[in-house]
Amino acid sequence: MRLLLLAAAAFSLAGCNPGGEYTSQILNEANASGAEASATVENAVLNAADTPLEKEAALAKMKERHDGYEEIGKAMRAAKQAIDKGDPAAVKAPADQIATLAPQAIGWFPAGTGPDVGKTGARAEIWQQRAEFDQGMTRFNEAARAFRAAAMTGDLAQIKEAHANLGKTCGSCHDRFRQKDD
Ligand code: HEC
Repeated sequence: MRLLLLAAAAFSLAGCNPGGEYTSQILNEANASGAEASATVENAVLNAADTPLEKEAALAKMKERHDGYEEIGKAMRAAKQAIDKGDPAAVKAPADQIATLAPQAIGWFPAGTGPDVGKTGARAEIWQQRAEFDQGMTRFNEAARAFRAAAMTGDLAQIKEAHANLGKTCGSCHDRFRQKDD
């Protein structure tokens, strides 16, 4: 019975993510080798990084993502205003905020939080070209840390350059992975 439920869950996954196929394969092997494999299968299903979230959890994650990016956007604007005013001290707080949020952003895109689940600016390509998306995340995180380090120096020229570099990492990911009309 347990296996049947798991099998049903795995088949519903199979249609929408590449891990589904793998999970089905494990299930077939488990079905062949008997019920003692059930715990293994259960772990495989629960631990699969690409197991889509339940709808409610997915929508909560998408809201967290939206709010998080809004915070990052606000902090970028605050930093820009401080730079334009020639006030390097006022860049520290927003730079620190961005560097704190950047590593969190890595966790904002679990499988099952794409456009097939709800309204989002996240394009399906994120999950189809995951390695490239993750590279964009890594560059963003590096640039966010560099921007914070520059902000701590208080040197306006360094801050300007690091802000521009960081801005490029936002733009290149948005061009590719964010819905244009959102
Ligand atoms: C690795 C990819 C990536 C990077 C880097 C990135 N973003 Fe985004 N951003 C996205 C995606 C995808 C969305 C759409 C999210 C959604 O709608 O769920 C988004 C949405 C946003 C939004 C709109 C919020 C919303 O959900 O409507 C803002 C504002 C934003 N990003 C600002 C920034 C800024 C500023 C930076 C750089 C400091 C940045 N982003 C870096 C991918 C990225």
